[in-house]
Amino acid sequence: MKISIVGSGYVGIVTGIGFTELGNEVIFIDTDKAKINAINNQEPPIYEKGLEELMMKNRDKYYATDDYSEAIDKSDITFICVATPSNENGSINLAYIKSAAKEIGKTLKNKSDFHVIVVKSTVVPRTTEEVVKPLIENESRKKAFEDFGLAMNPEFLREGNAIEDFFSPDRIVLGVKDDRTKSIFEELYVQFSCPKLITDIKTAEMIKYASNAFLATKISFANEIGNICKKLGINAYEVFKGVGLDHRINPAFFRAGIGFGGSCFPKDVKALIAKAEEVGENPKIMRAVVEVNDRQPLKMLELLKKHIPNLKGKRIGILGLAFKPDTDDIRESRAIPIVERLIEEGAKIIAYDPKAMDNFRKLFPQIEYTSSAENVLNADAVLVVTEWDEFEELDYTEKVVIDGRMIERARKAAIYEGVCW
Ligand code: UGA
Repeated sequence: MKISIVGSGYVGIVTGIGFTELGNEVIFIDTDKAKINAINNQEPPIYEKGLEELMMKNRDKYYATDDYSEAIDKSDITFICVATPSNENGSINLAYIKSAAKEIGKTLKNKSDFHVIVVKSTVVPRTTEEVVKPLIENESRKKAFEDFGLAMNPEFLREGNAIEDFFSPDRIVLGVKDDRTKSIFEELYVQFSCPKLITDIKTAEMIKYASNAFLATKISFANEIGNICKKLGINAYEVFKGVGLDHRINPAFFRAGIGFGGSCFPKDVKALIAKAEEVGENPKIMRAVVEVNDRQPLKMLELLKKHIPNLKGKRIGILGLAFKPDTDDIRESRAIPIVERLIEEGAKIIAYDPKAMDNFRKLFPQIEYTSSAENVLNADAVLVVTEWDEFEELDYTEKVVIDGRMIERARKAAIYEGVCW
């Protein structure tokens, strides 16, 4: 099939390159010249495990452009994969979605063949039908579900595992209305053997939010139980091993520690809270999920001050800056509030991360960065913020370690504090 993809962030690029591997032809549309050049030189515009190899392997099957009309003319189906950031009040910012919809609409006006537009960006329920649809219809002077197809197909890609998640998803959710679009989808996803759930459009939008909100809730719940465990001298990891064996519960996403970051959970939970309030609901559980998550990284500071009450002038090492391992992404990373607080308290920070230092330096140019994890151990205390594999190789004996992510090796430190164990 011939596919165009608007937006080449991690969802767009992984989805597009994934489709080329399955034998499709893909055109990426982006407004960022640097990204276009990178893609056309087979360079991943983001760091994602396995992506570069796939881009090399399938280099004849894709290219990038900023020209909507060329890309839409030459394709049968367009995925909208642009970012949906948060507004100040937590609600979803649809600026990029709206501009993509308008541009697509303008181009569709001159296209006679049936074309399908699919929203893959995470959008609050009803956005596809109440925002995207009228914009495309107005610009194209055509009718959705008759003259062109419109659908919603949420993504469930984890950064760092996105390629694997693309090829082996737990499920594919397709929010569709017209039969023609449904059969095009069935053809596109024919090679996938996982359950395929066909719903209406707004249900597909809600499945995405409910999934992320549930996973975020599971983490905050694990952290709340973990905080109680810490006070009682219990290891939360052992507790959740026992809890997760109940097949109704499942062991995944019970890693207690310093909470969730990234570009999805914090933003999506807040957007769903805002949507709930807009329709007159009071989402108490989700508000508590955010509150627990905001407090959790500061637990590390409490534990640190138990051993070093005055941090002024003390050298504090930070292991890990990315919001999770295997990514250079620092959006909503738990390292941010931790570093902010350490700076406020006058500590001297030395930090290391295998991938995320360049990004972190843009936010915090004033702290020291080092090219090896060992150098970080040369400090009055070390905080483990991200669980990179290589942190399991270090020698922590004789060190003061506050561990936010359960690094087994670190437990051998002279003074060791786990956040929830
Ligand atoms: C998340 C979801 O897992 C994906 O299914 C979804 O597609 C994606 O958001 C999205 O909406 O685009 P991602 O944010 O890449 O993926 O990363 P996760 O692996 O889910 O981790 C999110 C945060 O939760 C990280 O900061 C991680 O350290 C934290 N976490 C995760 C925990 O603190 N404990 C856990 O048990 C699991």
